[in-house]
Amino acid sequence: MATWLTDEFVERVRSESDLVSVISTYVPLKRKGKQFWGCCPFHNEKTPSFAVTPDKGFFYCFGCHAGGDVFKFISMIESLSYREAIVFQAEKLNIPLPERQRTPEEIAREEKLKKLREAHELAGKFFHNCLTMTKYGTAGLEYFHHRGINDNIIEEFNLGFAPDAWDKLTTAFAKRGIDTELLLESGLVVKRQKGQGEYDRFRNRVMIPIMDERGRVCGFGGRVIDNGNPKYLNSPETILFNKRRLLFGLDKAHRAISQEGFALVVEGYMDVISVAAAGIKNVVASLGTAFTIDQCKKLLRYAPAIYFCYDSDNAGQEAIARAIGIAAGTSAIVKVVQLPDCKDPDEYIRKHGVEDFRKVVSQAVSVVEFRLRHVMAHSDVSGLEGRLKALSEMLPILATIKNAAERSAYVSKVAQLLSVSENDILVELGKKSRWSVNQPSSGRAVRSVVRQVDDAGRRAGRVIIRMVWDEPAILDHFISLVPMESVPDEIHKRILEALMEKYRAGEKISDIMGLAHLGDEAVEELSRAVVEDLGEEDRSILYEACVRQLRRNYLVSQYEVHSKNAEELYRQGDAKYLEELAASQKIKHEMDELQGVN
Ligand code: UTP
Ligand code: MN
Repeated sequence: MATWLTDEFVERVRSESDLVSVISTYVPLKRKGKQFWGCCPFHNEKTPSFAVTPDKGFFYCFGCHAGGDVFKFISMIESLSYREAIVFQAEKLNIPLPERQRTPEEIAREEKLKKLREAHELAGKFFHNCLTMTKYGTAGLEYFHHRGINDNIIEEFNLGFAPDAWDKLTTAFAKRGIDTELLLESGLVVKRQKGQGEYDRFRNRVMIPIMDERGRVCGFGGRVIDNGNPKYLNSPETILFNKRRLLFGLDKAHRAISQEGFALVVEGYMDVISVAAAGIKNVVASLGTAFTIDQCKKLLRYAPAIYFCYDSDNAGQEAIARAIGIAAGTSAIVKVVQLPDCKDPDEYIRKHGVEDFRKVVSQAVSVVEFRLRHVMAHSDVSGLEGRLKALSEMLPILATIKNAAERSAYVSKVAQLLSVSENDILVELGKKSRWSVNQPSSGRAVRSVVRQVDDAGRRAGRVIIRMVWDEPAILDHFISLVPMESVPDEIHKRILEALMEKYRAGEKISDIMGLAHLGDEAVEELSRAVVEDLGEEDRSILYEACVRQLRRNYLVSQYEVHSKNAEELYRQGDAKYLEELAASQKIKHEMDELQGVN
C-alpha cells in the first residue's frame, strides 16, 4: 500500500480524527488549559509527562521524547507503520479507502507476503503438533523437558519439533496444495541436488518459531538435540524474515518492556525462553546477528532504556561493545548486565534461580563502567607500558562523562586501577576535550551528544522552530541574523530547512506528514517544539533572546574562521591578513556587545 493513500484521503481521516479522544482510549488524560496530560504509554512513569495539544494536533512525551500526530500515536501504540495507522484509523471511522491504484509489482508482493505468512503459520502448527501430538515428537519433548522447559512454556512459545525424516513437511504441505515454489522461497523446503523433488530443510530439530511484534510467524530457528552441527539452523532471509529488524520474543515482551521501562536484550533464543519462563517478561534476543540500529529504534518505541545481557565469553562481551556503539547514535539509555560465573542467562537462572538473576539485572552497570572494565580485561597492567596504554584507551571514555561528580569519581577509580595520579589524568583529560572540540565533527556522534544535553543552544533552536510553526514569516528575519547552515543542531537545521522550503513555496506548514521524510527524530523534536510550554514570558522578548543565543554561536564559529585565516595569511606573509583580522575584530566587537545584553 505504497502510493494509493492520496493527500485528500489522509487529510480527511486526519480532520475526522479527534486527537484527544483517540489518545484517551489508551491513556487517561486530564485537561490543563489548552493541553491534556497523562502518563506516557510508551515508557513507565508515575507522574504525567505526556502532553497532548489538540489545537495543533500533536502529542509529545517529555520523558521518552515520543511525539507526533494522531497517526504517529496510533502507529506506536498499535505497532503499525505510519501508513498502516492511517488505514487503521480510516477503518475505525468508516471512511472508505481510496481506490487502490497499486502497481502489478505491489499487488504481486502483497500476495506473496500473504501466502508466505500463511505457510509459516501452518508450519508453526505443523511443528507444534509434531512435538505435542505425535510419536515423532518424543525426542523433542525429552530434550525440552531435560532443559527445564515445561509444557506451559512449550504452549506459550508455540515450540515444535521437525521430525527425523526427509519429507514429512514437504508431503504434508503438498497434500494441502501449497505451491512448491512458495515453499522453496520460504526456506522450509530445499531442492534436491541430485534428481527431482524437494526435501525438508528442518529435520530432527526442536523448532522455535520467530514472530514479528504482532505475533505473526516469520521464520524459524531449529536446534539440534544432540551435538550436531550447525547448532541452530535458521530460516533464510525472505521478504517476511528480516533478521535486521526482527527481535525474537518482542511479540510477548513489548507490554512488559513499556511497563518496566527497559528491554533486556540477550543473545540466544533459549535465553529469552528461560528468562521469560522465569517470569521476567521484558526480554528479547537479536537473532544471532549483531544488534542493529533498526532493532534499537524498535525497542525505543516501548521504553527509553536497553539492558544488554550477552554471554560472558569474549565473543559476547565484544558483541556488547559493538551494540553500545550502535545504541550511542540514538537516545537509548544503555546498561550492561554482567553474569559473574555463568555462560549465559539461561544457564545462570538454572544454576542460581530467578531471584538471583533479578539481582544481577538490578546491578546493571553504566556504559562507562562497562567500557572501563572492558579495557581492564584486555590490558596487562603489571608494567608501566601496559598501564599507559590502558590509560590512553580510558581517556576517551572518561571524556564522555558529562556529570562532574561522576567524572571525578571515575577519575579517582582509574587512578587507583592504574596507579597513576588523579592530577595527571585530569591534565590529559583537559588536553583531550580541548582537542576534540576543534576536531571537524562527523555527523552522528556529535549529534547524539548534543541531543542528550539539552543546552541553551538546543532550547533556543526549539523555540525558534515553534515560533516559525506559529508564524512562518519570522523565518526571513531569523535567517538574516542566523544563516541556516550555522544552526548548531543537525535536526533543527533539517526541520528549519524543510519549513523554509514550504514557506518559500507558499505552502501551509501545519501538516507534519510533509515532514515525515525527515525521519523519526525530526518528527519527535518538532512535536516537542510545538507542544512545549513557552512559559509566561513575552513572545518577542523570548524570540530575541533565542536569536541572540544562536547568533552568538554563529559569531563564535565565524570568529574562529577569520582568526585562523588571519593567522595563516600572516604566516605566509600575505598582507591580506589585515582584512581577515579586521573581520575577526568586528565579530569580536559584536560578540562583546551581545555579551553586554545578557
Ligand atoms: P548460543 O550458542 O549462545 O546459543 O548462540 P544458546 O541460545 O545459548 O543455545 P543453547 O543454550 O546452547 O541452546 C546465540 C544465538 O546465536 C544464534 C542463535 O540465535 C542462538 O540463540 N546461533 C547460534 C545461530 O543462529 N546458529 C548457530 O549455529 C549458533
Ligand atoms: Mn545457552
